[in-house]
Formats: sequence, structure tokens, C-alpha cells
Amino acid sequence: MDVHPLKLKVRSYVAETPFIRSLVFGVEDGVVPQWQAGAHLRVALPNGGDRPYSLMALPGLPEDALALGVLREEASSGGSQFMHALKVGDVVKASAPVNNFRLHEGAAPALLFAGGIGITPVLSMAAELAARGSSYRLHYAGRTPGLLAFLPQLQEICAGGLSVHYDNDESRLDIAAALGDAAANAHVYVCGPSGMIDAVKAAAAAAGVSADRVHYELFKSEQTSAPDRPFEVEIKSTGQVVGVAAGQTIIEALEAAGVDVLYDCRRGDCGICQCGVIAGVPDHRDVILSDEERASNKVMQICVSRAKSERLVLDL
Ligand code: FES
Repeated sequence: MDVHPLKLKVRSYVAETPFIRSLVFGVEDGVVPQWQAGAHLRVALPNGGDRPYSLMALPGLPEDALALGVLREEASSGGSQFMHALKVGDVVKASAPVNNFRLHEGAAPALLFAGGIGITPVLSMAAELAARGSSYRLHYAGRTPGLLAFLPQLQEICAGGLSVHYDNDESRLDIAAALGDAAANAHVYVCGPSGMIDAVKAAAAAAGVSADRVHYELFKSEQTSAPDRPFEVEIKSTGQVVGVAAGQTIIEALEAAGVDVLYDCRRGDCGICQCGVIAGVPDHRDVILSDEERASNKVMQICVSRAKSERLVLDL
């Protein structure tokens, strides 16, 4: 099965900031797939890998087009550089849309948090909530004014429902205060770096928001702070031992060895690839496990997490 069945042709692009580019694509050989706020698709890269990008409901986007927003990362493994080098008329292959970050049904209000490029799915959520006539507020945080993309579009979508915060002045985001101002039955959504997700989850728990009303999606930088080390994975049911190279995920290594595994988001936030750990110490890099689950070292997300020990024995 072709995991990248869509052929997307670049119609236009705009430098939204010095580092963030929006791209509008037409769909070759077919109709534009249906998608809902929070969805992403995976764009195939020349190196054989792919990268997830959230679909954006930019104001004025034609019905027969799709839009993505891409942050250029200097130390990227190729995805963002590739996307920033695309020209009008270039064609890329992409997966069908997948949505692990859906808006709730019904009329309950929403509180949206976005950090940096994490705004891409959240902008679509704000547009959907505005179209529904639902009550919501969007808190958008970043370091400096010049680095926050899509502000004109957000102002058009949200009008008075947008609060913008810069890390270095008195408008700094106060998550607890934002939660305190929210309605008791509000659903909370956050997309951004892991520190922001953890902070919103902790503040929501402290404010008494039940976990099933807190929804999050990680924006995972392509940059890693320290080089990864190789390690081994042993499959408990067969005893097979598979080497995981420094530049490989456990899922990639298992698939290369002919082992079937279930996964979806491949960025540690959907939970589908969760796997029991019989022995060894995982290096957790997901955003879905609770602190207790992480500390237990009995489960891990094999799409992103690695090993602190030389070998992991997995319950596969
Ligand atoms: S595939 Fe989604 S958490 Fe691993």
C-alpha cells in the first residue's frame, strides 16, 4: 500500500516570518481529501523518510487547496529545509490526513494554547470553533513579536478571542490565570514544545480539569540536543534481537527486521505504539505517559523513546 498516495503541487508560498513559511498546494490527480481541525498529513522527503505537518484553515484558502505552515530549522535532518526550498509547480507526495488531535463535539467552550509553530493545528481549531459559533479563547505564546507567525490571519479568525504573549515582557503567558478564567466545562487544547504541554497539563490538573478534557499534540523539533546512541531491542515472544542504530527509531529498526508493529503519529503523542518493557531502562521522549508510568519504566512509546541501557526487552 502506498503510504503517500497524495500528490501535492505547490501553488504559492509566503514567508510569514523569517523562519516560517506557509505553503498552499493543489491536489494532482484527485479531489482534495476531507479533513478536520487538528489533522496532519505526512510529506514524503527525498531521504526516504517523512514529516508530519498540520493542515491549516487559512482565511481565504480555496476549497480545492491545502495549506501547511513549516518552521525552518537550521539543524534539521532535512524536512524543514526541503519544505523551505520548494518552488511553485514542485510536486511532493503525502499521506492522507490523520487526526489525533480532534476538537470535542457539542457546545462546551474551549481554551486553546499554542507555542511557536504549534499554532498550525490550533489556528484550524480556532477557525472551526468560530464557524460553529462556540465560545473559545486562544493563547498564543512565543519569544518575540517577529517570530510569531500568522498573527494577521489569527486576528481575522479570532477577533477578540486571541491573546498574544511574548516570553520576555509583562505579557508573558500565565497558564494558571488563563485556566482560572475559563469556564468550568471548557475543553483545553495545547500544541507546542513538551515543556509547554507539561505546564498546561499540570496547571489543568491543579485547576481540577479532568484529564479527558485536556488534549495535546507535541511539536517536536527535528533538532536533538545530544547525539543518540545505538542499542538493542529483544522481542520477548521470539527472543529475536534487533539493533537500533543511532539515527533510527525502534519502530524503524523493527520494521527493517520484518517485525510488524502498530503506530500512527510517530511523535509520541497518540499512544498507539505503546509497548510493555520487561527489562532495561527506556529513555522516554513521548508526551503521553504520566509521570508515574514514566518512572515505572514498564511501558514506553517505541516511535520516539530510546534506551538508557544497552538492551531493552519488549513485550512483543
Ligand atoms: S505512534 Fe503515536 S505515540 Fe507512538
